[in-house]
Amino acid sequence: MLDKKAAMELFAVAEEARERSYSPYSGISVGAALLAKSGKVYIGTNIENASYTPTVCAERTAFFSAIADGEREFVAIAISGGKHGKVGDDGFYPCGVCRQVMAEFCTPEFEIITKTKEQCESHTLSEMLPAAFTPDKL
Ligand code: THU
Repeated sequence: MLDKKAAMELFAVAEEARERSYSPYSGISVGAALLAKSGKVYIGTNIENASYTPTVCAERTAFFSAIADGEREFVAIAISGGKHGKVGDDGFYPCGVCRQVMAEFCTPEFEIITKTKEQCESHTLSEMLPAAFTPDKL
């Protein structure tokens, strides 16, 4: 588990990435910062589309960018999201599709960091996606 300072730092990167969100339809901007085992941090933001279904979440943008860069092992992801211009006081949690993508590449201990008010909150992937369908089931 990342210590408090490292979690806050990763969350700050997610907040920066959130500023790049392209989300004119939902009005929800999301930023993600994914820490790979290599130590590199990959950012992602949500990118919407007039045709709606091509929309991709911030978390998957970060994962796909990291995978394309050759990464395969991951430590943690921080996520910041909410209505445009608003700080999400209630925390912003990954959607089910993004949790499934995490389960493809991450161990059950992979850490998901969000922030409620001033505090960083941390969950493991296994808490967020219990009884996951993973590659070893095939
Ligand atoms: N969104 C994310 O980026 N991550 C999530 O985990 C949930 C949803 C985005 C997708 C879409 O642009 C907007 O939030 C509303 O669903």
